Amino acid sequence: MKIAVVIGVRPHYVKLAAFYAPLAARHEVCVVNTGQHFDYDMTQTFIDELGLPPVTFDLGIGSGSHLEQTGRAIVALEQPLLSSRPDAVIVIGDTNSSLAGAIAAAKLGLPVAHVEAGIRSFEADLPEETNRLAIDAVSSLHLCPTEKALLNMRAEARGETARLVGDLLLDVLDLQQQKLQERLSVWRRELPDLDQSAVVTFHRSATVRDESILSAIVAGLLAFSRPIICILHPGTKQALQRAGLLEKLASMPAIRLLGPQRHADLLALIAGADRVLSDSNGVQREALFVQTPCFILRDSTEYPETIEMGAAELIGTDTQNIVRSATTRLKMPPIDDVRRAFGDGRAGQRIVEAVSSVLQVAT
Ligand code: UD1
Repeated sequence: MKIAVVIGVRPHYVKLAAFYAPLAARHEVCVVNTGQHFDYDMTQTFIDELGLPPVTFDLGIGSGSHLEQTGRAIVALEQPLLSSRPDAVIVIGDTNSSLAGAIAAAKLGLPVAHVEAGIRSFEADLPEETNRLAIDAVSSLHLCPTEKALLNMRAEARGETARLVGDLLLDVLDLQQQKLQERLSVWRRELPDLDQSAVVTFHRSATVRDESILSAIVAGLLAFSRPIICILHPGTKQALQRAGLLEKLASMPAIRLLGPQRHADLLALIAGADRVLSDSNGVQREALFVQTPCFILRDSTEYPETIEMGAAELIGTDTQNIVRSATTRLKMPPIDDVRRAFGDGRAGQRIVEAVSSVLQVAT
């Protein structure tokens, strides 16, 4: 079969790395990049680091409002999908690019396989939740990372097309383990207090579009009783700059501001830190996989397993909660339980098997 994979944002490169090789071993693969993310260190860095092939089509849609971005991507996807004539299209996650890929494929009558299907935060006004619901509605194969996601699919009467495959981020962690250790030694020399520090990341539009939320987070970080390594997404940097908050963070000696990191560096920093504060569900899972406690800068999560296992806590964006999270102790669960719950690092292989068997029958 010929399979098109639609990507567009930084985590898509990371997740594609976990299943590209087994997929390409069995099928002709065409990678279509919407170009939602475009900075070199949000795109090409990952292609190089993770040994991904050059993308087949680069659509260059860039930034914009949610509607502009999604609409531009749907229109831009028509020609590549028509000319490459794939038998099926894989989309990953809940981004505007993933939604555009699913809608474009469905409109062209192509079967859609959704990686990370069934994930729900049950917050109707979150853009990513709208995307997930719409993508699952048009997909023919629902590839669930967790048991809970599978149960969600059954509750939505999609059990027949749902498969439990596990979490690709655990596969990637295994692939990156050696580089992670190498980079950790480097970071420990560079940041001698890394093991006392908190790694902080936040970028979701729900967090950065509202200046009062941004101010509350920054106030929490300024009063935090540990060293902080704050890794800034370009959108977060722009939002902090607009709100006049970037200088405040930059003026604090205990706060180290870093730009986007390569994946092995991000994993190394998370693994070496004492704790993580983040609004990213990817970072939240990666923290669990490397056994670092995570304080979630949100009021809900799509991965409640991390909380049920005791490894994470929802703290929202309230200043006092952020300050308190510098000292709260969390007990990490046994790593074997974690690995079992997230697919044992074999999600990529299971995805390829499901796509090959189920979609082959459908086409
Ligand atoms: C998107 C996803 C989010 C995912 C994240 C992963 C949607 C709705 N959101 O959020 O679910 O967790 O990707 O990273 O699709 N920017 C740059 N350079 C870049 C990319 C972005 O400067 O390479 C800036 C732009 O100003 C842009 C802003 O960041 O407006 C936000 O980017 P956008 O693509 O809209 O969404 P993300 O916040 O990255």
